[in-house]
Amino acid sequence: MRIVVTGGAGFIGSNLVDALLEAGHEVNVVDNLSTGKFDNLFRVKDAAKENRFNFFHMDIRDDSLAAAFRGKDIDAVIHLAAQIDVRYSVKHPVVDADVNVLGTLNVLEMAAQSGVTRFVNTSSGGCVYGEPDSLPVAETAGRFPDSPYGVSKNVAEEYIRYYERSRGISSCTLALSNVYGPRQNASGEAGVVAIFIGKMLAGEDCAIFGSGEQTRDFVFVEDVVRAYVAALEKGEGKFINIGTSLQTSINELYKRIAELLDVEPDPQYLPAREGELDHIALNADKANRILSWKPELSLDQGLARTVEWYRQNLRR
Ligand SMILES: NC(=O)c1ccc[n+]([C@@H]2O[C@H](COP(=O)([O-])OP(=O)(O)OC[C@H]3O[C@@H](n4cnc5c(N)ncnc54)[C@H](O)[C@@H]3O)[C@@H](O)[C@H]2O)c1
Repeated sequence: MRIVVTGGAGFIGSNLVDALLEAGHEVNVVDNLSTGKFDNLFRVKDAAKENRFNFFHMDIRDDSLAAAFRGKDIDAVIHLAAQIDVRYSVKHPVVDADVNVLGTLNVLEMAAQSGVTRFVNTSSGGCVYGEPDSLPVAETAGRFPDSPYGVSKNVAEEYIRYYERSRGISSCTLALSNVYGPRQNASGEAGVVAIFIGKMLAGEDCAIFGSGEQTRDFVFVEDVVRAYVAALEKGEGKFINIGTSLQTSINELYKRIAELLDVEPDPQYLPAREGELDHIALNADKANRILSWKPELSLDQGLARTVEWYRQNLRR
């Protein structure tokens, strides 16, 4: 297939691009490198030589986006580019909506104009439901997001459904839980696994916001990549959770990573932050039924792989 991947230089996107190229697909990556890195795409050299890989350094909101859809017919879009910072969205809801709603709409419009028939979208299972009544939360639950980021992901999905009805683009939206693994940004506000590992390897203190008894559903990036590959062919018109159904507290996560890295000091506890949930885990039965997907790596296996990767790559 010929596939446009937006956000393909990011954490999840670059892992996905590797898998797509390895499976023989042709890939056009669109990324403005705001949080992604071109270095994440170091494995694509051979595919580029074979003309199976192109990089478009641009914003998904730009008119120039059409360039990524020109030339050969594009079969599918996998849309990952987004403003992903929940706390940033609380402070800057307009910018968040500009990227996540208008940016998505621009990608959809380019896709429709180019005759693309398949659109795989990315939502956030940790943010679109709000604080669920029962866990693990299923796709049938009400959606009451606690942050502008959760709202913008839901609104973007409404546009996708509209394009599905009116422009013949079949879609599948994957609602991801907390993804972790190699290439996640260990500095700044990204995933807690990368932040803890980065700080511990640098010999710095880790901060936990709130009591640390808040829980999250951690899913390994390679498992998530398999879900995207499946969603290219299955799950038409569906919204599907991608998670493990399991809850792990931040205190427990800290303990496991500290053990792997042989770190002694306790974390520093700071006040809880706005827009963050107490507890979340995603019921993944629908993913199993429709995509034949289930997570393969346990948290311990995934953390061991992730720690090893950061050991080798952060010190370089
Ligand atoms: N990591 C998680 O735990 C998680 C959980 C739920 C949902 N998601 C979603 O998964 C997707 C990928 O997230 P990630 O964790 O890989 O983050 P990431 O920041 O590594 O990837 C996002 C990519 O999009 C690019 N980008 C951002 N704004 C852009 C714009 N306006 N134009 C073009 N490119 C732009 C960034 O440069 C980056 O490469 C996002 O849609 C995010 O909302 C991630």
